[in-house]
Amino acid sequence: MANYETITVEKRGKVAILTINRPDKLNALNKQVHTEGVAALAELRRDDVRVLIVTGAGEKSFVAGADIGEFAGQTPVTQRDLFHEKTFFNSIDAFPKPVIAMVNGFCLGGGNELALACDLRTASETARFSQPEINLGIIPGGGGTQRLTHLIGEGRAMEIMLTGDMIDAQTALQFGLVNHVYPAAELESKTIELAEKIAEKAPIALQLIKEAVKFASRSNLDEGLRREVDLFAICFSTEDKQEGVSAFLEKRKPVFKGK
Ligand code: COA
Repeated sequence: MANYETITVEKRGKVAILTINRPDKLNALNKQVHTEGVAALAELRRDDVRVLIVTGAGEKSFVAGADIGEFAGQTPVTQRDLFHEKTFFNSIDAFPKPVIAMVNGFCLGGGNELALACDLRTASETARFSQPEINLGIIPGGGGTQRLTHLIGEGRAMEIMLTGDMIDAQTALQFGLVNHVYPAAELESKTIELAEKIAEKAPIALQLIKEAVKFASRSNLDEGLRREVDLFAICFSTEDKQEGVSAFLEKRKPVFKGK
């Protein structure tokens, strides 16, 4: 992996942990984080790592939003260019392997949008979530109005975005915004446990599940069902399908190779 200033990547077997590393700014997303995040994801795509965890450095914050300091100098044209470019959000969304947001503290604005671009979200009991853009006289621009609404429904998403209020981890769990909440001291070990469990599964099938599930919120039911049948058929061309079926019939644990 290349050396990045605002990002670190640590590999633990088949799991990689990407940490946004600006703790003095509560890991706010500036242009450099977007650029380096996109580059790191491009490297990890080619790597044999099977599951990615995204988190923030320090104990206080996952990501406290877009870097508000940078907003001051943005014009409509530069801001539109920045977000139409390959953003960190969209690179995570399009990343072919499963991505888990490990939310270790403030998860605000662009931070929540980053977590929403991931496939699963775990959170510490101390995590706090909000879309506070309304307090700055703007709206979420990193996918929040769309992804939050798809994930938790219009009524709850509306209240979060219209009020800008923070919700706690238990409320986020109740809303379906996060999959699991753990005591802060256990967040990392439990999240890695979850990642390792997924990393043992067949990599091509994981990728196809991700593609099919994401298609569900971007298409109608008939199109989605047709796409699922095609993706299902692709599985039958893989060695992993042979291995999975043989292992079941031979009463042994399958070893998937991603072929
Ligand atoms: N952009 C840029 N800098 C940020 C930031 C952001 N989104 N969020 C926090 N920071 C910086 C602070 O300016 C401060 O920097 P400084 O020490 O150089 O002054 C540092 O991170 C620590 O934050 P601070 O506000 O002192 O911590 P706190 O515990 O008092 O408050 C928050 C924490 C999260 C409540 C507060 O930082 C906050 O409201 N941040 C903005 C959240 C937001 O609106 N995000 C959405 C942007 S669209």
